[in-house]
Amino acid sequence: MSDHEAAWRRLRAAGAAAAARPTAGLFDAESDRLSRMSLEACGLYLDLSKQPWSAKDLALALDLARAAEVEAARERLFAGAMVNPSEGRAALHMALRAPAGAAFSALGEPVSAEVETTRAALADIARAIRSGDRRGATGQPFTAVVHIGIGGSDFGPRLVWEALRAPSPQIDLRFAANVDPAEITLALAGLDPAKTLVVVVSKTFTTQETMANAAIARAWLREGLGEAADSHLVAVSASPDVAQAFGVRPDQIFGFRDWVGGRYSIWSAVGLSCAIALGPDVFEALLAGAAAMDDHFRQAPLEANAPVLLALAHIFNRNAMDRPVRAVVPYAQRLRLLPNFLQQLEMESNGKRVRADGRPVTQATATTVFGDAGANVQHAFFQLMHQGSDIIPADILAVAESADGHPDSQTKLLANALAQAEALMVGRSEAEVRKSLEADGLSAAEIDILAPQKTFPGDRPTSFILMQALTPQALGALIALYEHKTFVEGVLWGINSFDQWGVELGKTLAGRILQDLQGDAPRAHDPSTTALIARLRGEG
Ligand code: F6P
Repeated sequence: MSDHEAAWRRLRAAGAAAAARPTAGLFDAESDRLSRMSLEACGLYLDLSKQPWSAKDLALALDLARAAEVEAARERLFAGAMVNPSEGRAALHMALRAPAGAAFSALGEPVSAEVETTRAALADIARAIRSGDRRGATGQPFTAVVHIGIGGSDFGPRLVWEALRAPSPQIDLRFAANVDPAEITLALAGLDPAKTLVVVVSKTFTTQETMANAAIARAWLREGLGEAADSHLVAVSASPDVAQAFGVRPDQIFGFRDWVGGRYSIWSAVGLSCAIALGPDVFEALLAGAAAMDDHFRQAPLEANAPVLLALAHIFNRNAMDRPVRAVVPYAQRLRLLPNFLQQLEMESNGKRVRADGRPVTQATATTVFGDAGANVQHAFFQLMHQGSDIIPADILAVAESADGHPDSQTKLLANALAQAEALMVGRSEAEVRKSLEADGLSAAEIDILAPQKTFPGDRPTSFILMQALTPQALGALIALYEHKTFVEGVLWGINSFDQWGVELGKTLAGRILQDLQGDAPRAHDPSTTALIARLRGEG
């Protein structure tokens, strides 16, 4: 048995023991538990002490990370090695946010100079639009930007915008991702083409949903502005030729390279709309926060490394305790979209059953991620979190100081975040419930029925992430924290976190079914699909 397999085996045995042990009791048994299991990195305070692992279990998880050679994998990532072998690519999103003068190479080719040139160009256009130096075709300043893109070309910019936007922004930034006509219709509604910039973002510039929305927006611009509409259409793509063929002027195309994965691309020109709408200094601060997390991830020893520890807490639940679902609950309305962002980051990166070398995985991989903003979710799925038959670990996030005023409301929000994490771990014993029902004067028969229903089993794990304020730096660090966590998990499972073959089949079939819905002679599919096609053709 290899060291790696032996480390997995020991961790699973530790998980079985942890399942039979109250987590809260570990604070008495391990006097330094909190200091050992919490750390501060890049403005984020991470508390993993409410996880079910003991200090000894944590040491076993760190042994697993060493046996899986996480440190060597991390070096290969930062060195721009081919960490995405199925597509023959490096994954070098860290190069996009590095401070000026960095010297990253992708597969041996230096990239930092080009990155700096693109960054400067983004800042220039963002500044020019905001100052009014660059105006629309009729001479009016731009007051709206419509960002068109989907998946990695949408989730990051949307998250960053909602997190950092001013309540009444100078630029009205809107998004259209879905091919559902409702979304582009609502995004364009009420806007004046003469004051609107359309930014089409697609790594490939072939994505069906994006191209459909881009065509609608281009037609809308042309209808309002005629030939002059071209100056209102900007593209961001790793396939500039395709963008040009679509009709975007070459001087209005911002590029990025194939070593930027879609779900890791917010740091590239994909962030252009945010740079315009938030201002280039805010965008640069976001990048600086992520770069600080890169430094931390690269340099901190594994036992004091935030992405590594967050990954190991997840792995302990997933693989040692067989928990296939995880909730992400930001107690910050501005981070409401974080769960959506993480769904793509984690589930597209690590939702795989085959290793990078083609062999089947030996461990279960990515969990199902779901979530929404606290406190709202307390009135939705928290009943199940507290008393449901499955144990669902959660990441709970909170921001100490709100920039949105109303400090009393903010304190109430924080109280809820802390209360839920405490309640999830500590629970409420049946004995305690019985005592309180007795004090209320209920009969023994009534207590027998009610007490089990009012009991909280506890031992529902949380990782708590607290930031002082939702600054661009803190947000950048937070997103990079999760990116590196996802990478570490991929290394532990032996999978390639940077490809996404699982999205291809549905795309191909959608192309065929589109023909079947529109053409004269639909092909046969499985009976269920054939019947649905017939219904939609009005023939069923
Ligand atoms: O969801 C599949 C996917 O390929 C993602 O990986 C990507 O972020 C998204 O589609 C959009 O792709 P593109 O940026 O090429 O339009």
